[in-house]
Amino acid sequence: MENPTPESVCEECLKKTKIHYREDGRFFMPRLLSINHLQLGNSKILHNPLVLIVEWLYRQYKHLRDAWKRFIAWLFPRPTKVWCHHADSALVGQIHYADRDNLNTPIHNLRVEFWGRTRWLQWRKLADGYSDDEGKFSLQFELREARNWKIYKTQFEVYQTTHVYFESEKPKVALECCYVEQVPVSNLTGMRYNLRTIHLHLWEYRRDTPVPRTEIKNVDNDSPQYYAQGRLDALFEQITPLEVTKAKHLLQIEQAPETISLAQIQSDYPENLTVCIERKLPGYTRSDEWFGRRMMNGMNRGTFLPDKENHNMFWVKYFGVCNYEHNDEYALPTVEIKFALKENGLPTPTEIHITGQTNAFDKNPWQKKVFTPANGEEWLYAKRIARVNGAFSTEVDEHFTGTHLNTEQYAIAAYRNFRRSPLACLLFPHLKEVALVNHSADTLLIHGYIPSATALTENGLHQRCYELLGMQDWKNWKPMKPLSEAHTCAKAEKMFWDLTIDYVEKFFAENLEEIKHHWIEVYRFSQDLVNHAVPVFLSSIDWGKLSPEEKQLANDRIEYYTYQYSFDTSAKRETVNGELKVVSPITTSRTFEESPPEDMQNLKHVCAYAIMMATYMHTWINEHQYDDLGEVLYSSGGLRYGNKERGILAPESDLSISPDLTRSTQMLWFTNFLSRTEYGFITKNEEGDVNPLFSKMLLDRKEEFAKLGVDVNAIESRTNI
Ligand SMILES: [Fe+2]
Repeated sequence: MENPTPESVCEECLKKTKIHYREDGRFFMPRLLSINHLQLGNSKILHNPLVLIVEWLYRQYKHLRDAWKRFIAWLFPRPTKVWCHHADSALVGQIHYADRDNLNTPIHNLRVEFWGRTRWLQWRKLADGYSDDEGKFSLQFELREARNWKIYKTQFEVYQTTHVYFESEKPKVALECCYVEQVPVSNLTGMRYNLRTIHLHLWEYRRDTPVPRTEIKNVDNDSPQYYAQGRLDALFEQITPLEVTKAKHLLQIEQAPETISLAQIQSDYPENLTVCIERKLPGYTRSDEWFGRRMMNGMNRGTFLPDKENHNMFWVKYFGVCNYEHNDEYALPTVEIKFALKENGLPTPTEIHITGQTNAFDKNPWQKKVFTPANGEEWLYAKRIARVNGAFSTEVDEHFTGTHLNTEQYAIAAYRNFRRSPLACLLFPHLKEVALVNHSADTLLIHGYIPSATALTENGLHQRCYELLGMQDWKNWKPMKPLSEAHTCAKAEKMFWDLTIDYVEKFFAENLEEIKHHWIEVYRFSQDLVNHAVPVFLSSIDWGKLSPEEKQLANDRIEYYTYQYSFDTSAKRETVNGELKVVSPITTSRTFEESPPEDMQNLKHVCAYAIMMATYMHTWINEHQYDDLGEVLYSSGGLRYGNKERGILAPESDLSISPDLTRSTQMLWFTNFLSRTEYGFITKNEEGDVNPLFSKMLLDRKEEFAKLGVDVNAIESRTNI
């Protein structure tokens, strides 16, 4: 038999370790109560048969309750007919936010209705309408109809948009009643009945953080949004076996540590890409060839900054602890990798520069070591440090900040403002659930796992995310430029971006008049985005107080991130309360007629950008986590200093620098479930909320994407994990 080539082995292992979602709801399978019951330690898994039966009964009760509600709605329908011939009275008032800083901020375009109920419990609509730009409403109704002897009660109702769905390829908006106020019939006497100011909690900003985040009081029962049941079922199905594995490991670590090893932990989780390749081609995943390949087309989708002197050389940089609060257990120096492009278009590393602390003793943050392939074993150590720091930066800067937090700021601004504009139908399917998953990530990742498994503390992480968000702006954003034919990751990214732009153009062409008509919603969307945005990265630092090294680092970071995030430093940005806000305004005009022509272009661009971040950009990292972070010794979130003088410049066999056993099982649990528990794909369209046009456009290019290694059926329609 012929010796396998690296290409054939990679191909085979990619197929073998590809994650498939399947559903088989066996009854006595252990169940997770909800996403919010996931824990770094033991999650609250139900496995006792008696408890499972009780939980099943509770679910049946909920189904019955929902069925009863549907039956009642069927029995007493809400006809669309309005019982009014000559309006001679009005129900007036205004709706504002309930948040104490926004008591005077009006909520525009909310659906408001006035209903009467007959003595036979039938509903009669007396009036309907919307709140205006200032949150005021005036529902004109006929007094005689409201005071008809058959009517025993009247009530005022407010509706909010919950989600969007498509019926016969046409988008529909689902409304849900979010406020009811009884209006005593006997009080309806004159020309006006004033409900005064109604304060509602709808998609409010958190006040405890400078990052634009959604206020979620209780994720189970007091949240502006909830997960779809299908999404929860998919998670439960996939997480349970992983949860059992992790629980077993934690128990062994606690009670019989001699019975467990890192190798055992690794082999208990499903085989990932690097383990599979390593089994067939020992040493290949630690080679320069594989290193270059993954840095370019793997999870990190590395940014190759051209060298200033030699344009055939490139730099990939992963900035370490910088000035963020950190612990003394894990190393996170800055790593700069110099690459040359080979003839086949793939990069090969030629130098690795490591700046910062690499052992527990020499704490000088500016110490620098340079490694080349001539360094033998140390070159292998340096590549591992580069992989680990690359994984940290990709997860914290690109994944969590660049896609999760970045998308949430568009989600909250969109849900607060798009009600009558067709833009709700364009954006909501892609912006839903991100606020919920970020809420869980706060506890599980930012508070729990990352500070315990990497160099940064929770405060350090918050600060880093806040600063890095200051590099994310839609204005003139474009995908990375392919360096060569072999740069498939960049080629696929560009293809998806072009497709998204095309889709957005088509959507606008079909809905242009309505978008123009409800321009006030665009204006307020822009205002919310800008006013709540974080400042531009390092825009408020006092450069005079920095040491020469700090200045150099700050400049290096600005230069690299500007390139990495396609950040337009020349874009015109607004200063609010002394802060230069990173998100560029879309329009400063309240009506379309007053707006300059470029504002419409801005709007299309920001919509395409938000969809791109929420779907493709997030999917890329999420999908590849298990490929590049599914083998503890190959890569992890952090290497420990250990107690030797060589510190992290040590072989993989030195387990004192690798993640400990607890962190190892937690890491594999995380990367497994984050990569595996997918639900909500563009083409699968499980909830009927993705525009069929978008799905079709993507499927039409299935073959072209497949040639670049991208399965269009695996692209998620939203950021929900
Ligand atoms: Fe994610």
